Amino acid sequence: QNAPVTVTVTGAAGQIGYALLFRIASGQMLGADTPVRLRLLEIPQGVKAAEGTAMELDDCAFPLLESIDIADDPRVGFEGANVALLVGARPRTKGMERGDLLEANGGIFKPQGEAINAVAAQDIRVLVVGNPANTNALIAASHAPDVPTERFTAMTRLDHNRALSQLASKTGASVKDIEKLTIWGNHSATQYPDVFHASVAGKPVTELVDEAWLSDTFIPTVAKRGAAIIEARGASSAASAANAAVDHVHDWVLGTPQGAWTSAAIVSDGSYGVPEGLISSFPVTSTGGRWEIVQGLEVNDFSRQRIDASVAELVEERDAVQGLGLI
Ligand code: NAI
Repeated sequence: QNAPVTVTVTGAAGQIGYALLFRIASGQMLGADTPVRLRLLEIPQGVKAAEGTAMELDDCAFPLLESIDIADDPRVGFEGANVALLVGARPRTKGMERGDLLEANGGIFKPQGEAINAVAAQDIRVLVVGNPANTNALIAASHAPDVPTERFTAMTRLDHNRALSQLASKTGASVKDIEKLTIWGNHSATQYPDVFHASVAGKPVTELVDEAWLSDTFIPTVAKRGAAIIEARGASSAASAANAAVDHVHDWVLGTPQGAWTSAAIVSDGSYGVPEGLISSFPVTSTGGRWEIVQGLEVNDFSRQRIDASVAELVEERDAVQGLGLI
C-alpha cells in the first residue's frame, strides 16, 4: 500500500461535494492502493451538513478511508493537504454583475490561496471546480507564491466528457473509441470543443461529421449542456461534475494512457498563442504527476477564431480581477 494522501474538499456540504466525497473515499480517484485522509472545508453554516455527510462516509466503512476532519477555517482545512478540490464558490445570483461575481469569489479564493501557501504539503495539487473556475484558479495561484503555478488547475474535464458523449452518440460509436478531443479556453459558454485532431475507432472525425454540424449543433450543445441540465433537473450538474473532478485528479496523479490526451485548464506557457500565465484549457497529457501541453497541433481557421474568442474572455476576466486588486 502507498502512503496515505490528504485530500481537502471545499464546499463539502454542497451537491457536488455529496457526489464527490464517496468516490474519493472508495479509491476511485487515487487508486485502490492509496489510503485517503479527508478534510472537509465549509463555511460555518455548512458545517452541520458536512458532519452529516461525514457520518454517512463512516457508515460506508470504506477500507481506504483513514480519517475525516471538518473545518471552517482554511488554515486548518488545508493543513498538510496533498490534493485540494476547490468546489465551494459564490454562485451568480439574480442581478449580479460580473464584477460583483469576480469580487465575491476573490473573497473566497484569495484567502484559500494564502492558506494553501502557508499550510498545505509541499506536493500540493489543486483543482478548482467552483465557477468562474479558470479565474478563481488564477486568483488562488497568485496568492500562493511558494507553490508552482502549474499545480493550480481548473476543471474542463466535464466539458471534455460531454463532448465525448455527444460525439459518440452522433457517430454511433462508443466513447472508448474516441481519441484526441480537446476543450480549449475558458470553462464557460465560449469554450471550444475541438474535434479536428480526433478520431473515432481510428477514423478521422472530419470524415464523419461536417462543419455545419460542428458549429450549429455540437459546439453549442456541449457549451450549453450545463444550462440544459439545470432546465431538466432543476439543479446544476453534480454527479457528472464530481465524476469529472475524479477523472481530472486521477489522470493528473496516475497519468494519462500512452498516446492519449485529455483536457484540463492549466497555466499557459504561451503555447498556441495563449498568453503566458493565463489558466486556459489545453490538450494535455500527464506523466509523473505533471501536466504537459500537447505540442505541435495544427490549428485551422475554424479553430483559431474560436480559441481566440475564449482566450479573449479569459484575458478580460484576468484584467477585471487585476483591476479589483484580487491578483
Ligand atoms: P452548492 O451550492 O450545492 O454547494 C456549494 C457549497 O460550497 C455550499 O455547501 C457552501 O456552503 C460551500 N461554500 C461556499 N463558500 C465556501 C467557502 N469559502 N469555503 C468552503 N465552502 C464554501 O454548489 P454545487 O452544485 O456543489 O457547485 C459548486 C460549484 O461548482 C459552483 O460554483 C458551480 O458553478 C461549480 N460547477 C463547476 C463545474 C465545472 O465544470 N467546472 C460543473 C458544475 C458546477
